[in-house]
Amino acid sequence: MCSPATEQLRLSFDDEANCKATAADKAIELPTDRPDFDIERLPKELQERFRALYQNSQQTSDFLAPNEIYQGDARDLLPRIRPNSIALSVWSPPYFVGKEYEAHLSFADWQQLLADVIRLHFPIIIPGGFLVVNIADILTFKDLTMPRIQAEAPSRRRSQVTKEDILRVMAEHPEFNRYQIAAVLGCSEQTVDRRLHGNNIRGGKHEPQTRVKIVGGLVEQWALDAGFYPYDRRIWVKDPAWENSRWHSLSYKAVDQFEYLYFFWKPGITRYNRQRLSAEEWAAWGSLAVWSFPSVRANDDHEAKFPIELPARVIRLLTDPGDVVLDCFMGSGTTALAALNLGRQYIGIELQEKYVELARRQIASRR
Ligand SMILES: C[S@@+](CC[C@H](N)C(=O)[O-])C[C@H]1O[C@@H](n2cnc3c(N)ncnc32)[C@H](O)[C@@H]1O
Repeated sequence: MCSPATEQLRLSFDDEANCKATAADKAIELPTDRPDFDIERLPKELQERFRALYQNSQQTSDFLAPNEIYQGDARDLLPRIRPNSIALSVWSPPYFVGKEYEAHLSFADWQQLLADVIRLHFPIIIPGGFLVVNIADILTFKDLTMPRIQAEAPSRRRSQVTKEDILRVMAEHPEFNRYQIAAVLGCSEQTVDRRLHGNNIRGGKHEPQTRVKIVGGLVEQWALDAGFYPYDRRIWVKDPAWENSRWHSLSYKAVDQFEYLYFFWKPGITRYNRQRLSAEEWAAWGSLAVWSFPSVRANDDHEAKFPIELPARVIRLLTDPGDVVLDCFMGSGTTALAALNLGRQYIGIELQEKYVELARRQIASRR
């Protein structure tokens, strides 16, 4: 009689003959939380591809256990996750916008990091499961080849805005920052600062030009190269981030106000369960491409947290209770909290010790 195959691939357990699968077959890992998963239900070419992937996997005892945050580089730790075990991986990587935790990366390093991390997801996501990447375009991407934009203002006059104008707007809107004040007065934030303090905050005329770097195509290609397929994309509309929009009044650019959610699918059998959301929730956001909810109010303990609503929606849409949800750029632990609140398991990976401690504290204080 075969032993219950909780840890092993269910090739077929109907008769004794089937229990004589080769040693290599027996080493293939079955996702423990998806006992209905059966590789033989997949198309033949996928069966072969997935068998080849999983036969090279390591000893079971070395795998990262769920419900823990691990400190280290995602590229070192992802190969230690049990193959075929993650129902959903949802994360927000460094965006290459000059945050403290990405300052050491060149643009080439940043691209390599994301390409490697996406590639390392393919073996660990359950067939039919998802990888969801929350990312934004780079709005001030330095491009040395870009010609200087020579703005022609119809009036060709220096800004008429006076210090008194600025003080009046400040009195009317004490909560406004200099970008918002500049927007109201139709001048640059530089003018606001110059009138108030007599200095030039952008540091001179000869800074390299900046342009928008659209990242969607890059992410799509890295995912396709890894074996995933783009499945869906949504927009998260957040609070306008004036600080991220460092352009002056002689510009037609909009303020930074949205991010993307790219959904990638690993071929396999996907559970479709319309009961995961109520009819009202399907109508309000489940079926809608644009999600609007506020940003995190205070990024005082981490520079770039996403609101818990973001991973919570993705988790509710794409997983069932008990499934394992991964975030390999865990930061302050938001995804782990969302997973726990929703009765899912989590695995968290984070490079910086201070954020690992923060995430662990947040999780502990929830209990
Ligand atoms: C955009 S933040 C994620 C914030 C998170 N979603 C939250 O709500 O707190 C990206 C995180 O990735 C971490 N990180 C950067 N490079 C990493 C790497 N190679 N491996 C693992 N984590 C990394 C950073 O320290 C940072 O905390």
